[in-house]
Amino acid sequence: MQKDNTEMKTQTAEYATDNAVLIDSLSKTSNERKLIELLQQIGRLEPETDPLPFLNLLENSSGEVRLWTFKNLAKIKPIEYLSQLIDYANNEKATLARREAVSAIGRMRNEQIIPFLTAALNDEDSKVVMQAIRGLLTFKKQPEVSEALREQLDHPSELVRAAVKKELNGSSKKNDSSHAESPDFLKNVLIHADVREAIKEIPDESIHLTFTSPPYYNARDYTLYKSYDEYLEFLVEIFKEVHRITKEGRFFVLNTSPVIVPRMSRAHSSTRYLIPYDIHPMLRKIGWDFIEDINWVKPEPSVRNRNGGFFQHRKPLGYKANSISESVIVYRKQTEKLIDWNMKQYPSDIIEASKVKETYEKTNIWKIAPSNDKVHPATFPKELAARVIQFYSFVGDLVFDPFGGSGTTGLAAHIRQRNFLLTEQEETYVKRIQENFERQEFFGNRPLKTYDLQNFKQLEKT
Ligand SMILES: C[S@@+](CC[C@H](N)C(=O)[O-])C[C@H]1O[C@@H](n2cnc3c(N)ncnc32)[C@H](O)[C@@H]1O
Repeated sequence: MQKDNTEMKTQTAEYATDNAVLIDSLSKTSNERKLIELLQQIGRLEPETDPLPFLNLLENSSGEVRLWTFKNLAKIKPIEYLSQLIDYANNEKATLARREAVSAIGRMRNEQIIPFLTAALNDEDSKVVMQAIRGLLTFKKQPEVSEALREQLDHPSELVRAAVKKELNGSSKKNDSSHAESPDFLKNVLIHADVREAIKEIPDESIHLTFTSPPYYNARDYTLYKSYDEYLEFLVEIFKEVHRITKEGRFFVLNTSPVIVPRMSRAHSSTRYLIPYDIHPMLRKIGWDFIEDINWVKPEPSVRNRNGGFFQHRKPLGYKANSISESVIVYRKQTEKLIDWNMKQYPSDIIEASKVKETYEKTNIWKIAPSNDKVHPATFPKELAARVIQFYSFVGDLVFDPFGGSGTTGLAAHIRQRNFLLTEQEETYVKRIQENFERQEFFGNRPLKTYDLQNFKQLEKT
């Protein structure tokens, strides 16, 4: 212990000497890059360090020099120079430097800074406002500070609103043991029904992950939806409910792609719809936060060739790309809690069993061959579902697919030791799901239970 203390003292003395040399050099150069380099190298500073060499640099014409100067002043916290610092902060035009100025003043943690920080809440730049909020939190027990912070709940920036909400409400540390659990009556179930009806029977916050691929508008059948708007409203109605039944801070992964509704005749043109882009703002409004944009990429020979005409004539405006990718967009149910909180809700053996131990794709380009099902025309590959399930759920979780299709999400969930819940309205596909489960055998284990809506409603809800 004695030795450690001596070592620490020697180290501190060395830092002090190094810092003194660096601070001394500040007055000997006017070269911007050199100044920034010196300012960046300066380490920890004691409160008794003379702030004057730094204050002089606040006159420098370079915003980056001023920014690094404010960062160093934040280490000294020179309260005796507060009014000068406030003047500099108020006149600072470079927003990044102004942010550091407000941060430096905020770190002084002295009541004298309250009026300045309260005024900074009106700054036009939300980064500056965030720093002012940080500084004011020390005094949040004072009614006028608490009131000023509360007003930021209406701030135009969603990041400011979220930060204040989190700080004022405080984040709960309690271990919610039910987070890792889900109702038994939903586990390994297929409901043969319109998802809009079935989903009403599912209790709030019972699902850990939803992975789905909805119908591709009228790309195959002109008559499914009266209009594109009606189609989007249909999706919104379902994804609002998915939000309700999803547990706090858990994920919703949506596989869609642009679609083409073929032309009526050669006299008409076909119409393309960019479904992922159109649905995205609607999902954000519901309360889904955007997390990742994964591109599922297929081998070119496996997709329809749209390139034939252009390949022949080579005339501008007629270019058509072969669509080899689909979007797999990852959303998280909005919460103030960090993902760490979600992880902490699980016992250590489940965390260990759920770890992704093998090599995995590190980019957002996932190259996976498409799948074919002899009955269902629009399945996604089991490999895609398995990856999503492995990355975004834990062993034993409940994974939902509102558009069950041939049951790929259910099969992948079962293989990955998760439970599943599927809804599918078409009888042909319900039968196909049952066949697909039977074909897999699962060593004699038949996990799938199928209900129609009436039977499902009558189940004991435990
Ligand atoms: C693109 S497919 C899903 C395919 C699935 N991912 C797979 O790999 O097999 C969409 C499915 O949603 C089903 N569907 C469409 N509208 C529905 C509704 N309102 N309720 C339940 N299922 C619906 C369709 O019958 C179709 O099987």
